[in-house]
This record gives sequence, C-alpha cells and structure tokens, in this order.
Amino acid sequence: MAEEAEAILEVRGLVKHYPLTQGVLFRKEVGSVKAVDGVDFTLRRGETLGIVGESGCGKSTVARMLVNLERPTVGSIKYKGEDITRLSGRALKAVRRNIQMVFQDPYTSLNPRMTVGDIIGEPYEIHPEAAPKGDRRKKVQELLDVVGLNPEHINRYPHQFSGGQRQRIGIARGLALRPEVIVADEPVSALDVSVQAQVINLMDRLQNEFDLSYVFIAHDLSIVRHISDRVGVMYLGRIVEIGRDAEIYDHPTHPYTQALLSAVPVPDPEARAHRERIILAGDVPSPTNVPSGCRFRTRCWKAQERCAQEVPTLAVPPHLGGDPTGPAAHDSACHFAEEKQVVRAEPRP
Ligand SMILES: Nc1ncnc2c1ncn2[C@@H]1O[C@H](COP(=O)(O)OP(=O)(O)O)[C@@H](O)[C@H]1O
Ligand SMILES: [Mg+2]
Repeated sequence: MAEEAEAILEVRGLVKHYPLTQGVLFRKEVGSVKAVDGVDFTLRRGETLGIVGESGCGKSTVARMLVNLERPTVGSIKYKGEDITRLSGRALKAVRRNIQMVFQDPYTSLNPRMTVGDIIGEPYEIHPEAAPKGDRRKKVQELLDVVGLNPEHINRYPHQFSGGQRQRIGIARGLALRPEVIVADEPVSALDVSVQAQVINLMDRLQNEFDLSYVFIAHDLSIVRHISDRVGVMYLGRIVEIGRDAEIYDHPTHPYTQALLSAVPVPDPEARAHRERIILAGDVPSPTNVPSGCRFRTRCWKAQERCAQEVPTLAVPPHLGGDPTGPAAHDSACHFAEEKQVVRAEPRP
C-alpha cells in the first residue's frame, strides 16, 4: 500500500462518554462510561486498517461514530478533510452515503420479514438519487451476483440463507450506494471458522473491484492479519499500538499487543514450541473507573511508579529511534516499549 495515498478518514482525539445515571424520577449523573477515550488514526485510500481489541474496549462505539450513527462527545472525524461530526442535513446525508457499515451479526442485523431484495435495496429508499426506481431491482440483482449469491434468490427471506450467505447480503447492502469507505464491525465473528475465510476473501476481492477503503474490526489479531495493511490495537477506549501489519505482528512493542499475540493460535508446531504464552493478571477494568496514568498498568508485568502518574502518548518509541521512517517504526503508547518477538509470524522456510 502506497504510504502517500490520500487520507480518506482522519480521526483525532475521538471520545465517547456515556453518562451514568441513578434514579428514575430525578435522574442524577453519577459518573460516565468512558467507552472511547481519545482515539487517533488515519485511513488512507485503498487501505485496510484493522482494529483489534477485547470485547468492551470501544470498537463498536468507534464504528458507530465513523458512520455517524452516534456523535462523539469530543473529537473530530475528517472525511477528505471535512469534519463530518459538525455536519447536518443534506451535507451529512451526502457524506453518509460514502461511509457504510457492515454489521457484526448477520442473524440479527437483517430484518426477517423483508426479502433480500428489499434489504439490499433499502439504502435506495433513503438515498433515492442513487438509483432511479425502475433500475433498483436490476441493481440489487447485480449486487447479489457481485457477492456470490444467486440473483434469482432476490425474493427469498434471510432465514433461507446460511450465516455466511447472510453476511454476503449484509455486504451487498453496504455496497448498494457505492461507498468509498466500509466500516466492518466484526463481520465474521458470528460465523463458523470454515466460513470466515470465504467472507474475508470476498471482502478482499471487493476492495479491489470497487476501490474501497476498509476499517475492519475484530476481537482477534489472527482474523485481521490477512486483510489488513495496518493494525491498531485497542485497550479500554484507546489505541495502544498501531502500525503496518508486519511491524505489529513481528515487532510488537506494547505489552498488551504482546499478550494478545501470545494467545493467537499458531499452526506451525516448531513456532508453537518456541512461543511464550503471556497470561495477563486480573480482568479488564471497568470503563467507568479507568486507572490513572497508563490504563493498562493494572495488568502489566512491566508497570512501575511512572505508569500510574503519566499517560503514555502514542508515538514511535525511543528504541526505534523515535524516527517515524525507521524500518520497524510504528506508534506505541508505553513508557517502557520494547520489542519482543512473541510468535514467529510465518514458519521458517
Ligand atoms: N449506549 C451505551 N450506553 C452506555 N454504555 C455503553 C453504550 N454503548 C456501549 N457502552 C459501553 O461502552 C463500552 C464499549 O462498548 P463497545 O463499543 O460496544 O465495545 P466493543 O465493540 O469493543 O465490544 C462497554 O463497556 C459498553 O458497555
Ligand atoms: Mg462490538
């Protein structure tokens, strides 16, 4: 992926706090859920940015803000240089058309009472300018074909399809308006392992065919490996490490990334024998009560006094020369970032 490609999405200081209230009649704010707590990244044209992190770390909240289903508490999301969080009315609608979402669970995200034709064609009801009424059926049939489904099945209902086929329907709906960006929120997590690769391969092919840029969310590093150009690792509402996929997988510097990688299944027995399994202490803290300083410190084997006091910034660590052009350069938010090869990503020749 050319590093110089145009920035299509620029996310800066993105925050979403949900107020936590008590009482029914006199609702009193007693705190907040810090679902997303300062996220920065750039998505370039034609690239796939994988976002990975455990359940509850704020991935879906980021996704919903990217497609404008939700407004950030603070922060900006620039689409081709324009902050979409400040748009409304027509301007917002026009931008929304270009940034579409594919949802996690194809079993619950497709209305069971609608035919696949109506499901895939639904975006045309919201954006009638995208396709004249007379063309819509043909367009939907083309979309079915593009995602590998039989165009003659246009009048069937979701329950007549398998999980993988349903996610293809969800993807076809995402493509209907010919968007530039697709935010896929764990698109394969609800599918059988055997079907996951097929759906990922389809998305890979569609990316080239339709010149798409992807934000591809998963809770597991192994899922995004093959589709991502860059990967960002999230923990408790923040990105802790982000960079080109080979840097993240082969030269992880944040202890949390190292722990996640140590849990990824390794098919190669030789590599498996050499890997070190990192077991983290305790559970993820509640987003209503985020630790001071480095939010990962309560589970980190490297934590020291400084970690409780100083929030680490996401930057190229000093041991990589602090030089953003260095060979293994990528950003890590750890005061004690250092390389640790957890798993040899590819078996030795
Ligand atoms: N509408 C909401 N109101 C209150 N808390 C929420 C809301 N949506 C999400 N959260 C909380 O925000 C945190 C992040 O959630 P989410 O973005 O769904 O994480 P993920 O997708 O990574 O599993 C969780 O603790 C979740 O309970
Ligand atoms: Mg989620």
